[in-house]
Amino acid sequence: MIVNKSRALAALVVLGGIAATPALAADGKALFTDKGCTACHGEDAKTPLEAGYPKLAGQNATYMVNQMKDIKAGKRANGLSPDTMKPILEEVSEEEMQALADYLASLGPIAGKGDSAHPGKKLYMTKTCIACHGKDGTKPIMKTYPFLAGQDKDYLIRQATDIKTSTRNHGLTNSMQPVMHLVTDEELAQIADFLANVK
Ligand code: HEC
Ligand code: HEC
Repeated sequence: MIVNKSRALAALVVLGGIAATPALAADGKALFTDKGCTACHGEDAKTPLEAGYPKLAGQNATYMVNQMKDIKAGKRANGLSPDTMKPILEEVSEEEMQALADYLASLGPIAGKGDSAHPGKKLYMTKTCIACHGKDGTKPIMKTYPFLAGQDKDYLIRQATDIKTSTRNHGLTNSMQPVMHLVTDEELAQIADFLANVK
């Protein structure tokens, strides 16, 4: 009697398993290769293929998930996103985005120190960037805000400029946009040079 009951239960469990095919927890490291991310962002996620492509190792996971969702939805449509990232993300689910972001964040955190004699350092502080992105770009005040330290210089300039001109205007960019009148193109280039060289 008891034996029969447990057999029946075991059969049910097996059937249930087949019917529902429980998804294995997505493996971010494997996905990063399988989905082709390494081709542009590098095997280690910090050796991008070209200047102007971002480094991802150690970036905030929540920030990255939001970016991927917005790029996939066409809300972040500036720069290279529509031609490079969007087609790839068509094949990436939200669960996979989370796993990818968790894996990439685990390659950090982004630490380091900037050159205190660099003219961009003073601008980074006086133009209020530090208030949200933290000391030398290494301590964003929220998980939804990006690290900037050690990021590709061309990428930094382009994204900050696009936020300034509202060409990039999705998500939380509206918190940053109002301070951008404080910086000229030349000053932004100095700040980006300072941040890119935080080591
Ligand atoms: C064909 C090249 C290419 C591929 C493949 C690619 N990316 Fe990107 N990715 C880019 C570029 C270029 C940008 C910057 C877009 C821009 O100019 O705004 C970017 C931006 C991002 C961002 C936003 C970074 C930030 O700081 O805001 C994340 C996150 C990201 N990619 C993750 C991924 C993941 C995960 C994959 C694989 C599923 C992937 N990318 C595949 C080229 C690529
Ligand atoms: C009030 C807070 C705030 C201030 C001040 C601020 N930022 Fe930002 N910044 C943000 C947020 C939030 C984002 C992410 C927006 C989003 O959701 O896509 C961001 C994004 C960026 C990005 C894009 C990063 C990436 O990986 O794509 C750059 C570059 C940047 N900020 C540079 C600067 C610079 C330079 C200054 C100073 C001139 C500055 N920020 C001042 C909040 C701020």
